[in-house]
Amino acid sequence: MSTTSMHPATSASQNQPDNQAQSPALPYARRHDQLVGSVIDASTTVLAQYDHDIVKFGMGAPAPDMLPAADFARIAAQVFSPENFTYGETKGEPILIEALHDYLATTDQIPPEQQGNRDRLLITSGGMQGLDLGFKLFVTPGDLVACESPTYTNGSATAMSYEAEILEIPVDEEGMQIDALEEHTKRTGRAPKVIYTVPTFQNPAGVTMSLPRRERLLEVAHRHRSVIIEDNPYGMLRFEGQSLPALSDLSPNDPLIFGVRTFSKFVAPGLRVGWIDVDPEVRELAVNAKQTMDSCAPVPNQHLIARWLIEGGADSHVEVLRKAYRDRKIAMSEGLARLFPGEIRATDPDGGFFLWVTFEDESIDTEDLMTTALEEGVAYIPGPAFSPAGNFSNALRLCFASAAPDRIDDGLERLRRAVDRYRAER
Ligand SMILES: Cc1ncc(COP(=O)(O)O)c(C=O)c1O
Repeated sequence: MSTTSMHPATSASQNQPDNQAQSPALPYARRHDQLVGSVIDASTTVLAQYDHDIVKFGMGAPAPDMLPAADFARIAAQVFSPENFTYGETKGEPILIEALHDYLATTDQIPPEQQGNRDRLLITSGGMQGLDLGFKLFVTPGDLVACESPTYTNGSATAMSYEAEILEIPVDEEGMQIDALEEHTKRTGRAPKVIYTVPTFQNPAGVTMSLPRRERLLEVAHRHRSVIIEDNPYGMLRFEGQSLPALSDLSPNDPLIFGVRTFSKFVAPGLRVGWIDVDPEVRELAVNAKQTMDSCAPVPNQHLIARWLIEGGADSHVEVLRKAYRDRKIAMSEGLARLFPGEIRATDPDGGFFLWVTFEDESIDTEDLMTTALEEGVAYIPGPAFSPAGNFSNALRLCFASAAPDRIDDGLERLRRAVDRYRAER
Protein backbone atom coordinates (compact mmCIF):
# COMPACT_ATOMS: atom_id res chain seq x y z
CA MET A 1 0.00 0.00 0.00
CA SER A 2 3.04 2.27 0.24
CA THR A 3 6.81 2.00 0.15
CA THR A 4 8.74 1.33 3.32
CA SER A 5 9.43 4.66 4.95
CA MET A 6 11.42 5.61 7.98
CA HIS A 7 11.52 8.84 9.81
CA PRO A 8 12.34 10.05 13.25
CA ALA A 9 9.47 11.41 15.21
CA THR A 10 8.73 14.98 14.17
CA SER A 11 7.17 17.84 16.05
CA ALA A 12 3.84 18.00 14.26
CA SER A 13 1.48 18.18 17.19
CA GLN A 14 -2.12 19.07 16.41
CA ASN A 15 -2.51 19.87 20.08
CA GLN A 16 0.11 22.63 20.37
CA PRO A 17 -1.20 25.82 21.95
CA ASP A 18 -2.01 28.45 19.24
CA ASN A 19 -0.13 31.21 21.04
CA GLN A 20 3.13 29.27 21.22
CA ALA A 21 4.90 31.64 18.80
CA GLN A 22 4.40 34.63 21.11
CA SER A 23 5.04 32.90 24.46
CA PRO A 24 8.49 32.38 25.85
CA ALA A 25 9.39 28.73 25.43
CA LEU A 26 8.44 26.62 28.41
CA PRO A 27 11.04 24.16 29.71
CA TYR A 28 9.31 21.11 28.31
CA ALA A 29 10.94 17.69 28.30
CA ARG A 30 12.49 16.77 24.98
CA ARG A 31 9.79 14.18 24.39
CA HIS A 32 7.04 16.82 24.36
CA ASP A 33 7.92 17.33 20.70
CA GLN A 34 6.81 13.83 20.01
CA LEU A 35 3.37 14.01 21.61
CA VAL A 36 1.62 14.15 18.29
CA GLY A 37 -1.93 13.54 19.45
CA SER A 38 -4.53 11.49 17.62
CA VAL A 39 -6.58 12.66 14.66
CA ILE A 40 -8.88 9.73 15.40
CA ASP A 41 -9.58 10.79 18.99
CA ALA A 42 -9.72 14.48 18.05
CA SER A 43 -12.54 13.67 15.60
CA THR A 44 -14.92 13.29 18.57
CA THR A 45 -14.31 16.96 19.46
CA VAL A 46 -14.57 18.08 15.83
CA LEU A 47 -17.95 16.38 15.43
CA ALA A 48 -19.27 17.93 18.64
CA GLN A 49 -19.06 21.33 16.90
CA TYR A 50 -21.65 20.40 14.28
CA ASP A 51 -25.39 20.73 14.95
CA HIS A 52 -26.71 18.95 11.89
CA ASP A 53 -27.11 15.20 11.49
CA ILE A 54 -23.86 13.40 10.67
CA VAL A 55 -23.48 9.72 9.83
CA LYS A 56 -20.44 8.74 11.83
CA PHE A 57 -18.10 6.37 10.01
CA GLY A 58 -15.08 7.92 11.76
CA MET A 59 -14.51 6.68 15.29
CA GLY A 60 -14.11 2.91 15.77
CA ALA A 61 -16.84 2.65 18.35
CA PRO A 62 -19.73 0.20 18.67
CA ALA A 63 -23.11 1.89 18.11
CA PRO A 64 -25.27 2.41 21.22
CA ASP A 65 -27.67 -0.29 19.96
CA MET A 66 -24.75 -2.75 20.09
CA LEU A 67 -24.10 -2.32 23.81
CA PRO A 68 -25.55 -4.75 26.40
CA ALA A 69 -27.16 -1.76 28.11
CA ALA A 70 -30.06 -3.57 29.81
CA ASP A 71 -27.69 -6.16 31.33
CA PHE A 72 -25.42 -3.37 32.51
CA ALA A 73 -28.23 -1.44 34.19
CA ARG A 74 -29.33 -4.55 36.08
CA ILE A 75 -25.82 -5.60 37.10
CA ALA A 76 -24.79 -2.04 37.99
CA ALA A 77 -27.55 -1.96 40.58
CA GLN A 78 -25.72 -4.82 42.34
CA VAL A 79 -22.06 -3.94 41.87
CA PHE A 80 -22.02 -0.14 42.01
CA SER A 81 -21.92 -0.39 45.79
CA PRO A 82 -19.70 1.57 48.22
CA GLU A 83 -17.06 -1.17 48.63
CA ASN A 84 -16.41 -1.09 44.89
CA PHE A 85 -15.91 2.68 44.70
CA THR A 86 -12.43 2.53 46.13
CA TYR A 87 -8.90 1.71 44.97
CA GLY A 88 -8.37 -1.81 43.76
CA GLU A 89 -5.36 -4.01 43.23
CA THR A 90 -3.12 -2.72 40.42
CA LYS A 91 -3.08 -6.08 38.65
CA GLY A 92 -6.88 -5.97 38.48
CA GLU A 93 -9.82 -7.14 40.54
CA PRO A 94 -9.36 -10.88 41.27
CA ILE A 95 -12.97 -11.58 40.28
CA LEU A 96 -12.36 -10.10 36.82
CA ILE A 97 -9.02 -11.87 36.30
CA GLU A 98 -10.71 -15.16 37.15
CA ALA A 99 -13.78 -14.52 34.98
CA LEU A 100 -11.65 -13.29 32.09
CA HIS A 101 -9.32 -16.25 32.28
CA ASP A 102 -12.27 -18.65 32.21
CA TYR A 103 -13.93 -16.80 29.34
CA LEU A 104 -10.73 -16.81 27.27
CA ALA A 105 -10.13 -20.49 28.01
CA THR A 106 -13.65 -21.60 27.06
CA THR A 107 -13.60 -19.55 23.83
CA ASP A 108 -10.18 -20.83 22.68
CA GLN A 109 -8.62 -17.41 23.07
CA ILE A 110 -5.64 -18.61 25.04
CA PRO A 111 -3.52 -21.57 24.05
CA PRO A 112 -3.91 -24.68 26.26
CA GLU A 113 -0.25 -24.26 27.34
CA GLN A 114 -1.11 -20.92 28.95
CA GLN A 115 -4.35 -21.96 30.59
CA GLY A 116 -4.44 -21.91 34.36
CA ASN A 117 -1.79 -19.20 34.46
CA ARG A 118 -3.60 -16.13 35.79
CA ASP A 119 -0.21 -14.47 36.42
CA ARG A 120 -0.03 -13.49 32.76
CA LEU A 121 -3.08 -11.21 32.91
CA LEU A 122 -3.06 -7.59 34.02
CA ILE A 123 -6.23 -5.51 33.80
CA THR A 124 -5.56 -2.15 32.15
CA SER A 125 -7.48 1.07 31.64
CA GLY A 126 -8.35 0.16 28.05
CA GLY A 127 -6.23 -1.14 25.21
CA MET A 128 -4.43 2.21 24.95
CA GLN A 129 -2.91 1.70 28.37
CA GLY A 130 -1.75 -1.76 27.32
CA LEU A 131 0.07 -0.17 24.39
CA ASP A 132 1.53 2.48 26.66
CA LEU A 133 2.84 -0.17 29.07
CA GLY A 134 4.35 -2.19 26.22
CA PHE A 135 6.22 0.72 24.67
CA LYS A 136 7.19 2.09 28.07
CA LEU A 137 8.79 -1.23 29.05
CA PHE A 138 10.63 -1.89 25.80
CA VAL A 139 11.48 1.41 24.08
CA THR A 140 14.61 3.36 24.93
CA PRO A 141 14.86 6.73 23.10
CA GLY A 142 16.14 6.16 19.57
CA ASP A 143 15.03 2.51 19.35
CA LEU A 144 13.54 1.39 16.09
CA VAL A 145 9.85 0.43 16.21
CA ALA A 146 8.38 -1.20 13.11
CA CYS A 147 4.67 -0.72 12.50
CA GLU A 148 2.24 -1.41 9.70
CA SER A 149 1.63 1.18 7.01
CA PRO A 150 -1.17 2.16 7.32
CA THR A 151 -1.18 1.62 11.08
CA TYR A 152 -3.28 2.40 14.13
CA THR A 153 -1.47 5.66 14.77
CA ASN A 154 -2.51 5.85 18.42
CA GLY A 155 -0.11 2.90 18.76
CA SER A 156 2.74 4.42 16.75
CA ALA A 157 2.15 7.76 18.54
CA THR A 158 2.57 5.97 21.86
CA ALA A 159 5.90 4.56 20.65
CA MET A 160 6.88 8.08 19.56
CA SER A 161 6.03 9.45 22.99
CA TYR A 162 8.89 7.23 24.26
CA GLU A 163 11.11 8.72 21.52
CA ALA A 164 11.11 5.71 19.24
CA GLU A 165 12.15 5.99 15.62
CA ILE A 166 9.25 4.69 13.54
CA LEU A 167 9.67 2.42 10.54
CA GLU A 168 6.54 2.01 8.42
CA ILE A 169 6.24 -1.38 6.72
CA PRO A 170 3.69 -1.68 3.92
CA VAL A 171 0.59 -3.79 4.37
CA ASP A 172 -1.06 -5.83 1.61
CA GLU A 173 -3.99 -8.24 1.68
CA GLU A 174 -1.84 -10.67 3.73
CA GLY A 175 -0.93 -8.09 6.34
CA MET A 176 2.47 -6.59 7.17
CA GLN A 177 5.05 -7.40 4.46
CA ILE A 178 7.66 -9.16 6.56
CA ASP A 179 10.02 -9.41 3.57
CA ALA A 180 10.13 -5.62 3.38
CA LEU A 181 10.99 -5.52 7.08
CA GLU A 182 13.78 -8.03 6.58
CA GLU A 183 15.13 -6.16 3.54
CA HIS A 184 15.27 -3.01 5.61
CA THR A 185 17.13 -4.81 8.40
CA LYS A 186 19.65 -6.26 5.95
CA ARG A 187 20.18 -2.94 4.21
CA THR A 188 20.67 -0.88 7.35
CA GLY A 189 22.06 -3.53 9.71
CA ARG A 190 19.44 -2.41 12.21
CA ALA A 191 16.66 -4.68 13.44
CA PRO A 192 13.56 -3.30 15.13
CA LYS A 193 13.51 -3.43 18.90
CA VAL A 194 9.73 -3.68 18.81
CA ILE A 195 7.35 -4.76 16.06
CA TYR A 196 3.89 -3.29 16.56
CA THR A 197 1.16 -5.16 14.71
CA VAL A 198 -2.62 -5.53 14.61
CA PRO A 199 -2.57 -8.86 12.78
CA THR A 200 -6.28 -9.64 12.85
CA PHE A 201 -8.85 -7.34 11.19
CA GLN A 202 -6.26 -4.63 11.14
CA ASN A 203 -7.06 -1.06 12.06
CA PRO A 204 -7.42 0.72 9.64
CA ALA A 205 -7.14 -1.64 6.64
CA GLY A 206 -9.36 -4.48 7.91
CA VAL A 207 -6.89 -7.06 6.52
CA THR A 208 -5.73 -10.16 8.40
CA MET A 209 -2.15 -11.40 8.43
CA SER A 210 -1.90 -14.79 6.68
CA LEU A 211 -0.55 -17.85 8.48
CA PRO A 212 2.74 -17.93 6.51
CA ARG A 213 3.32 -14.26 7.36
CA ARG A 214 2.56 -14.91 11.04
CA GLU A 215 5.10 -17.73 11.08
CA ARG A 216 7.68 -15.61 9.32
CA LEU A 217 7.10 -12.70 11.67
CA LEU A 218 7.74 -14.98 14.65
CA GLU A 219 10.89 -16.35 13.01
CA VAL A 220 12.21 -12.85 12.29
CA ALA A 221 11.37 -11.59 15.79
CA HIS A 222 13.10 -14.56 17.44
CA ARG A 223 16.19 -14.16 15.28
CA HIS A 224 16.55 -10.47 16.18
CA ARG A 225 15.07 -10.75 19.68
CA SER A 226 12.50 -8.13 18.75
CA VAL A 227 9.46 -7.78 20.99
CA ILE A 228 6.13 -8.19 19.19
CA ILE A 229 3.30 -6.05 20.49
CA GLU A 230 0.30 -8.03 19.26
CA ASP A 231 -2.62 -5.64 19.48
CA ASN A 232 -5.79 -7.67 19.10
CA PRO A 233 -9.01 -5.78 19.89
CA TYR A 234 -11.08 -7.26 17.05
CA GLY A 235 -10.00 -10.93 16.84
CA MET A 236 -13.17 -12.30 18.40
CA LEU A 237 -15.36 -10.32 16.00
CA ARG A 238 -14.92 -12.67 13.03
CA PHE A 239 -18.09 -12.94 10.95
CA GLU A 240 -16.72 -14.75 7.90
CA GLY A 241 -13.93 -17.13 6.88
CA GLN A 242 -11.62 -19.46 8.77
CA SER A 243 -10.16 -18.26 12.03
CA LEU A 244 -6.38 -18.04 12.26
CA PRO A 245 -4.25 -18.61 15.34
CA ALA A 246 -3.08 -15.48 17.14
CA LEU A 247 0.71 -15.02 17.30
CA SER A 248 0.45 -15.96 20.96
CA ASP A 249 -1.28 -19.25 19.96
CA LEU A 250 1.50 -20.06 17.51
CA SER A 251 4.15 -19.39 20.13
CA PRO A 252 2.62 -19.99 23.59
CA ASN A 253 4.34 -18.61 26.69
CA ASP A 254 6.68 -16.62 24.46
CA PRO A 255 8.25 -13.81 26.53
CA LEU A 256 8.80 -11.78 23.36
CA ILE A 257 5.05 -11.49 22.71
CA PHE A 258 3.28 -8.67 24.51
CA GLY A 259 -0.45 -9.20 23.98
CA VAL A 260 -2.77 -6.18 24.18
CA ARG A 261 -6.52 -6.74 24.40
CA THR A 262 -9.55 -4.67 25.33
CA PHE A 263 -13.22 -4.90 26.29
CA SER A 264 -13.85 -1.72 24.28
CA LYS A 265 -14.93 -3.34 21.05
CA PHE A 266 -17.02 -6.26 22.29
CA VAL A 267 -18.36 -4.76 25.53
CA ALA A 268 -18.15 -0.94 25.73
CA PRO A 269 -15.34 1.58 25.15
CA GLY A 270 -16.57 4.02 27.79
CA LEU A 271 -15.87 1.53 30.58
CA ARG A 272 -12.14 1.93 29.82
CA VAL A 273 -11.16 -1.61 30.73
CA GLY A 274 -8.76 -3.86 28.84
CA TRP A 275 -5.99 -6.31 29.64
CA ILE A 276 -2.53 -7.42 28.69
CA ASP A 277 -1.47 -11.05 28.34
CA VAL A 278 2.29 -11.21 28.92
CA ASP A 279 5.07 -13.23 30.46
CA PRO A 280 4.65 -13.17 34.29
CA GLU A 281 8.03 -11.45 34.71
CA VAL A 282 6.93 -8.73 32.27
CA ARG A 283 3.65 -8.44 34.15
CA GLU A 284 5.49 -7.68 37.39
CA LEU A 285 7.24 -4.75 35.69
CA ALA A 286 3.99 -3.67 34.06
CA VAL A 287 2.36 -3.52 37.51
CA ASN A 288 5.14 -1.15 38.65
CA ALA A 289 4.72 0.92 35.48
CA LYS A 290 0.94 1.09 35.90
CA GLN A 291 1.41 2.33 39.45
CA THR A 292 3.03 5.46 38.03
CA MET A 293 -0.04 6.03 35.85
CA ASP A 294 -3.34 5.33 37.57
CA SER A 295 -2.90 2.71 40.33
CA CYS A 296 -5.75 0.57 39.02
CA ALA A 297 -8.34 0.33 36.27
CA PRO A 298 -11.84 1.62 37.18
CA VAL A 299 -12.98 -0.72 39.96
CA PRO A 300 -16.80 -0.53 39.55
CA ASN A 301 -16.44 -1.16 35.83
CA GLN A 302 -14.24 -4.19 36.45
CA HIS A 303 -16.93 -5.67 38.70
CA LEU A 304 -19.61 -4.88 36.12
CA ILE A 305 -17.71 -6.74 33.40
CA ALA A 306 -16.79 -9.60 35.72
CA ARG A 307 -20.42 -10.28 36.67
CA TRP A 308 -21.50 -10.02 33.05
CA LEU A 309 -18.86 -12.58 32.01
CA ILE A 310 -19.79 -14.89 34.89
CA GLU A 311 -23.47 -14.74 33.89
CA GLY A 312 -22.45 -15.80 30.37
CA GLY A 313 -23.49 -12.43 28.90
CA ALA A 314 -20.55 -12.34 26.50
CA ASP A 315 -21.41 -15.59 24.71
CA SER A 316 -24.76 -14.48 23.30
CA HIS A 317 -23.66 -10.86 22.91
CA VAL A 318 -20.64 -11.67 20.75
CA GLU A 319 -22.91 -13.75 18.50
CA VAL A 320 -25.28 -10.79 18.12
CA LEU A 321 -22.33 -8.53 17.27
CA ARG A 322 -20.90 -10.91 14.69
CA LYS A 323 -24.21 -11.14 12.86
CA ALA A 324 -24.88 -7.40 12.99
CA TYR A 325 -21.37 -6.48 11.85
CA ARG A 326 -21.54 -8.93 9.00
CA ASP A 327 -24.78 -7.28 7.79
CA ARG A 328 -23.21 -3.84 8.22
CA LYS A 329 -20.03 -4.77 6.38
CA ILE A 330 -22.08 -6.20 3.50
CA ALA A 331 -24.23 -3.04 3.38
CA MET A 332 -21.12 -0.90 3.23
CA SER A 333 -19.31 -3.00 0.62
CA GLU A 334 -22.40 -3.16 -1.59
CA GLY A 335 -23.13 0.54 -1.15
CA LEU A 336 -19.58 1.47 -2.12
CA ALA A 337 -19.69 -0.78 -5.18
CA ARG A 338 -23.03 0.74 -6.25
CA LEU A 339 -22.15 4.37 -5.64
CA PHE A 340 -18.45 4.45 -6.61
CA PRO A 341 -18.11 1.93 -9.45
CA GLY A 342 -14.56 1.91 -10.88
CA GLU A 343 -13.60 4.89 -8.73
CA ILE A 344 -12.31 3.21 -5.60
CA ARG A 345 -10.63 0.10 -4.24
CA ALA A 346 -12.00 -1.11 -0.90
CA THR A 347 -10.80 -3.91 1.37
CA ASP A 348 -13.20 -6.72 2.23
CA PRO A 349 -12.63 -7.72 5.87
CA ASP A 350 -13.85 -10.98 7.43
CA GLY A 351 -14.36 -9.29 10.79
CA GLY A 352 -13.65 -6.26 12.92
CA PHE A 353 -14.87 -2.73 12.31
CA PHE A 354 -13.17 -1.16 9.29
CA LEU A 355 -13.03 -0.85 5.53
CA TRP A 356 -10.12 0.94 3.89
CA VAL A 357 -11.04 2.85 0.76
CA THR A 358 -8.52 4.14 -1.79
CA PHE A 359 -9.60 6.50 -4.58
CA GLU A 360 -8.14 5.55 -7.97
CA ASP A 361 -7.87 9.30 -8.63
CA GLU A 362 -4.71 10.14 -6.71
CA SER A 363 -5.49 13.85 -6.80
CA ILE A 364 -8.36 13.38 -4.34
CA ASP A 365 -7.13 14.61 -0.99
CA THR A 366 -9.27 13.06 1.73
CA GLU A 367 -8.15 15.63 4.30
CA ASP A 368 -9.50 18.41 2.03
CA LEU A 369 -12.59 16.40 1.16
CA MET A 370 -13.44 16.12 4.86
CA THR A 371 -14.84 19.67 5.11
CA THR A 372 -17.32 19.03 2.31
CA ALA A 373 -18.15 15.58 3.71
CA LEU A 374 -18.99 17.06 7.12
CA GLU A 375 -21.16 19.71 5.46
CA GLU A 376 -22.99 16.93 3.61
CA GLY A 377 -23.40 15.06 6.90
CA VAL A 378 -20.91 12.20 6.86
CA ALA A 379 -17.68 11.64 8.80
CA TYR A 380 -14.72 9.35 8.15
CA ILE A 381 -11.02 9.40 9.07
CA PRO A 382 -8.67 10.58 6.29
CA GLY A 383 -5.86 8.20 5.24
CA PRO A 384 -2.88 10.30 6.40
CA ALA A 385 -4.12 9.93 9.99
CA PHE A 386 -2.90 6.32 9.77
CA SER A 387 0.65 7.00 8.70
CA PRO A 388 3.22 8.76 10.90
CA ALA A 389 4.79 9.98 7.62
CA GLY A 390 1.40 11.29 6.40
CA ASN A 391 1.02 8.86 3.45
CA PHE A 392 -2.32 7.74 1.95
CA SER A 393 -3.71 11.16 1.01
CA ASN A 394 -6.19 9.54 -1.42
CA ALA A 395 -7.45 6.96 1.10
CA LEU A 396 -9.87 6.95 4.01
CA ARG A 397 -11.08 4.65 6.76
CA LEU A 398 -14.75 3.84 7.19
CA CYS A 399 -16.12 2.19 10.33
CA PHE A 400 -19.10 0.02 9.40
CA ALA A 401 -19.80 -1.07 13.00
CA SER A 402 -21.35 2.18 14.22
CA ALA A 403 -24.43 2.42 11.99
CA ALA A 404 -27.32 0.17 10.95
CA PRO A 405 -27.48 -0.83 7.24
CA ASP A 406 -30.04 1.81 6.16
CA ARG A 407 -28.04 4.51 7.91
CA ILE A 408 -24.91 3.20 6.15
CA ASP A 409 -26.70 3.66 2.82
CA ASP A 410 -27.57 7.24 3.79
CA GLY A 411 -24.00 7.96 4.83
CA LEU A 412 -22.55 6.62 1.59
CA GLU A 413 -24.98 8.66 -0.47
CA ARG A 414 -23.82 11.74 1.44
CA LEU A 415 -20.20 10.75 0.74
CA ARG A 416 -21.07 10.42 -2.96
CA ARG A 417 -22.53 13.95 -2.94
CA ALA A 418 -19.48 15.24 -1.08
CA VAL A 419 -17.06 13.77 -3.63
CA ASP A 420 -19.09 15.23 -6.53
CA ARG A 421 -19.18 18.67 -4.92
CA TYR A 422 -15.49 18.53 -3.99
CA ARG A 423 -14.61 17.70 -7.61
CA ALA A 424 -16.85 20.45 -8.98
CA GLU A 425 -15.64 23.10 -6.56
CA ARG A 426 -11.86 22.63 -6.62
C1 LIG B 1 -5.94 -1.47 17.07
C2 LIG B 1 -6.42 -0.82 18.31
N1 LIG B 1 -5.67 -0.89 19.41
C3 LIG B 1 -6.04 -0.31 20.55
C4 LIG B 1 -7.22 0.41 20.63
C5 LIG B 1 -7.55 1.13 21.89
O1 LIG B 1 -8.50 0.47 22.61
P1 LIG B 1 -9.19 1.16 23.89
O2 LIG B 1 -10.30 2.00 23.37
O3 LIG B 1 -9.63 0.02 24.72
O4 LIG B 1 -8.14 1.97 24.59
C6 LIG B 1 -8.04 0.52 19.50
C7 LIG B 1 -9.27 1.32 19.53
O5 LIG B 1 -9.71 1.84 18.53
C8 LIG B 1 -7.63 -0.12 18.32
O6 LIG B 1 -8.36 -0.07 17.20
